[in-house]
Amino acid sequence: MIDTIQHLRQHIGGEVTLQGWVTHQRSSKGIEFIVLRDGSGIVQCVLAEEKLGEASFEVAKRLTQESSIRLTGQVVADDRQVGGVELQVSALELISIAQDYPVTNKEHGIDFLMDRRHLWLRSRRQWAIMRIRNTIIQAIHGFFQRNEFVQMDAPIFTSNACEGTSTLFETDFYGEPAYLSQSGQLYGEAMAMAMGKIYTFGPTFRAEKSKTRRHLSEFWMIEPEMAFYNLDMNMTLIEEFLRSVVGEVLEKCPTELEVIGRDTEKLRAVLQPFPRITYERAVRILKGEEEVEGRNAIKTLEADLELVIARINEVQQEIADRELKLSQPGMKKGEIGFNQAKVQKLKEELAELEEQARNIPIWLESARNFRMGNDFGGSDETVLTRLFDSPIMVYNWPHEVKAFYMKRDEQDPRWAKGVDVLAPEGYGEIIGGGERETQLDWLIEKINEHQLPMEAFEWYLDLRRYGSVPHSGFGLGLERLVAYICKLPHVRETIPFPRLYGRIAP
Ligand code: 4AD
Ligand code: MG
Repeated sequence: MIDTIQHLRQHIGGEVTLQGWVTHQRSSKGIEFIVLRDGSGIVQCVLAEEKLGEASFEVAKRLTQESSIRLTGQVVADDRQVGGVELQVSALELISIAQDYPVTNKEHGIDFLMDRRHLWLRSRRQWAIMRIRNTIIQAIHGFFQRNEFVQMDAPIFTSNACEGTSTLFETDFYGEPAYLSQSGQLYGEAMAMAMGKIYTFGPTFRAEKSKTRRHLSEFWMIEPEMAFYNLDMNMTLIEEFLRSVVGEVLEKCPTELEVIGRDTEKLRAVLQPFPRITYERAVRILKGEEEVEGRNAIKTLEADLELVIARINEVQQEIADRELKLSQPGMKKGEIGFNQAKVQKLKEELAELEEQARNIPIWLESARNFRMGNDFGGSDETVLTRLFDSPIMVYNWPHEVKAFYMKRDEQDPRWAKGVDVLAPEGYGEIIGGGERETQLDWLIEKINEHQLPMEAFEWYLDLRRYGSVPHSGFGLGLERLVAYICKLPHVRETIPFPRLYGRIAP
């Protein structure tokens, strides 16, 4: 019976046929050990010459990494193996022998891997990330559907900007300029007035000519929009939503989280309430004028920098010591291998530490000089979120730094009722949202201020002319959430084929 690796535990003692690809292979006398992957998981397969017969065993010996095969054998429980089982093979069928596979089990540089993304996706770590992404997508739909939101698809060709004109991709729509959607929000607002509560889940485009670890040119955004919701209700929904999605990943993806080495204790922090912090208070915290549970942003950074520098010295010393030892004769083969691997690891740690040693002074400078009224930059968000274990919600922003549709506080019109959710562990913004402006004249004023073409927004203004109600919503960047949940250093690994400044292939 043909089955997949993920179901093997149900077949202990029985016989199954697996189809997949060879990821690792080692030989011992009369036995080939193959680690097979089939997309659902990996399993060690034991191919003994005695059992397989000479002809098949010859084929087994010549297999290469990524060759595709079909194996039939008995499933045996073995707690030492991944998944707790192993396959004792009685028949091997070769489907296709792979040529020299470029993505080997050695370390490769990032550009090399990005150029081979179509193959890199087969590696164990990418497998785990893509499965977690899938679980997150399912959990998002599940949450909104359980809560009676209607899913809607917003258009991708749009006639107007939503999030500022500087990041629009222009295309040609039958001779007229059209833009790839920066956000489905405005259409979401229209649908919320028709359906009550809606969410979009679609591709989003931003022409940002910056190479950062957070920016993609094409990403997926989830945008709920709710009639009769104010900012507080919006924030409560955000909290329940994120808790539910992360909770589902923790429950359904223990293997995947283990493969990528995610510290799940840290991730569980989303189960706590999220601090709600006004923008003004966030600025004071950032500048070290106010502490968070005894933690001071500036002092923490200064202390971190000292630790990083001390550790750099330690690591450099250890590398030098081990390299000296390696250069001397008389070391046993095993010891050489051990020391070489150790030096390799230390060098990787050193590169990371050196990056931190370069970054922290820049962050410090930016935090110290931050001016009340400005928008946070990526590094400010990093500094702020390093002080917290759970995501934080920063609300009440200076209206000047926020989009035209953001509702201004009627009591104190300096502030717009926006909220940004900043993920901890240095991740920064994963959600932007807020309450929407309902006063028609204020909205018109803002459209003019932002120099947006009024004609293109007439339909949007109709939503205020005909039965305007308080309403709110937010936008979650899927890839930013995947990066945070998986604790990835860059969003390029969160999507199968990333599109970013400087990359459109493969
Ligand atoms: O903060 P943004 O620009 O907000 C909006 O687009 C609103 N219309 C959302 C709403 O209220 N309905 O984008 C929302 C989120 C960000 O918090 C971030 O997670 C993600 O979208 N995002 C990006 N992700 C990857 N690459 C980029 N270039 C991104 N730009 C925004
Ligand atoms: Mg934003």
